[in-house]
Order: sequence, then C-alpha cells, then structure tokens
Amino acid sequence: MDWYERDFDHPDYFEIYANKEKEAAEEGSALATYLNLPPNSLVLDLPCGWGRLHPYWAMKGWKTVGGDLSSLNLDIHASKHPNELVRLDFRHLPFKSSVADGVMCAFTSWGYFHEEEDNLRQLCEFARVLKPGGILLLDLAGRHYLENAIVLMEGYWYHVDDGDYMERVRWTRSKKRIITDRIKNGHHFRHNIWIPTENEIKIALEKSGFHIDKCWGGLGGEKLMSSSERWIYRAICEKTTKPTPLSNVDSIVSFVYACLILATHFL
Ligand SMILES: C[S@@+](CC[C@H](N)C(=O)[O-])C[C@H]1O[C@@H](n2cnc3c(N)ncnc32)[C@H](O)[C@@H]1O
Repeated sequence: MDWYERDFDHPDYFEIYANKEKEAAEEGSALATYLNLPPNSLVLDLPCGWGRLHPYWAMKGWKTVGGDLSSLNLDIHASKHPNELVRLDFRHLPFKSSVADGVMCAFTSWGYFHEEEDNLRQLCEFARVLKPGGILLLDLAGRHYLENAIVLMEGYWYHVDDGDYMERVRWTRSKKRIITDRIKNGHHFRHNIWIPTENEIKIALEKSGFHIDKCWGGLGGEKLMSSSERWIYRAICEKTTKPTPLSNVDSIVSFVYACLILATHFL
C-alpha cells in the first residue's frame, strides 16, 4: 500500500491536522478569490479531503463535486458538508472530458506519486476534464521556504504537545522529496512528497497543456518569490479542438505505410 492510501485514511490524521480547520477561512476565501470563476461554474475540488474548504466554494455560488481517495475523509465531508462526492484516484478521474470550468487543487496535493509520470498524469487528467479555457488553481508549498524551515531540525525527532506526538522531517538522498515521519498514539505515519522547483512546476504545467496566467506567494495577494511560503498557480487549460498531432510512433508507421504504397505502385 502506498503512503498516501494509508496516511490520510486513519482517524489520528484528523487530530494531527486539527489546526488546518482553523486556517480554512483564510485559505478558502483567498483560494476561491484566486480561482475567480463566476457563480454556477462547475468546480471539481480535487482532492476535497474532509471538506474544510467546501463552505468557501459554496459562498461563490459554484456547483462543486469533491473527489478524494480516502473513504474516511469522504465520510466526514458528507456528514459535515453534504455535497456530490466521489471516491477517486487523481490518475484516472471518473469524469467525462471537457466538463469542468475549474479544478481546485488545494494544500500541497500534488507530488504524492513516486513516479514522475504519475504526477504528470494527475495534471493531464485535470486538463482532460477541464473545458478549453478552464482554470486550474494549484496551491503548493514553496520549496526554498521549506528548505529553510527544516534546516535546523532535519533528521531529528521532536516531541510536540503532551508527548503523545513525535515528528521527524528529512529530505531524501536526492533532495527531491521530503519524508515526514509522525508517531501519534503509537501509530506511525509517513508522508513522502516530491517538492518540485519552480522550473519543474512550470515544465509539468506546460507539458500537461496549461499556461500560467497568474501566481502568488501567499494568501494575501503577495507576489510569488522563490522564498515564498506558498507557490500558488492559476493555470489556464489550453486545449484546442484541433486534432492532436501524430505521435512519433504514429508518424513512423504512416511513413512506412506510404513507402509501401509507393513501392507497390512503381514496382
Ligand atoms: C493535504 S490533503 C488536502 C485536502 C484538501 N484539499 C484540503 O485542503 O483540506 C490531501 C488529500 O489528498 C487525498 N489523496 C491522496 N492521494 C490521492 C490520490 N491518489 N487520489 C485522490 N486523492 C488523493 C488524501 O486522501 C487527502 O484527503
């Protein structure tokens, strides 16, 4: 089982992240303003978690559908904020193509997969379900901010609160991912998240069919800087209705086929 299937689907996760509920008002209102879509837009909340940000999407008058891999998160969402909810994996969204006006991807919910192509696939799936011109809001942690934040304690276990909680943060050897170990009530959690550079984010967005329209370095409209705590991107889906160009393999097959036709004609 991969870490992201296990860690978010355990009752202790909600205790560890209890403070995120208090931050929801500030995050939800800012992110909704950044996405900037009119009322009645169809916005996919991917991932929706336990729905802490849902009220701020509803305030905008959007029709939202929430999706998440964790059944426990979805159950809590349904009990607190009933809405259309779907259990899903980012890599295979159970939606038709070109249906949504917006995708909200809040609170560092990209980079979970070990394989680069799976992380790219998540963005490609977002692009697939968006209408041409649809908007993705991608809210990530700033890599350099994290680097500075953990430099003093990297690799050390530290105890929080009354001692029933311990945490250790460290980079992987390649310095591409951060592994956060947490022990709460004797239960061991391990997040293992790719923390991309600005350039890697830009390349991935471009490769999956987006162009960056705006970006911010925080929730108060701050300019994105390499030292910013958050890197938030508003990206537009550049899909066109033109037929997709032939892949290399398709082109080679077509070329060989054309040669064969010519050869049979002239021989
Ligand atoms: C950090 S939380 C963010 C949730 C929500 N956006 C918020 O801000 O409260 C990440 C969420 O991603 C979900 N998740 C993890 N891996 C996933 C996957 N492969 N497909 C869909 N959801 C996934 C987790 O279950 C968890 O609810």
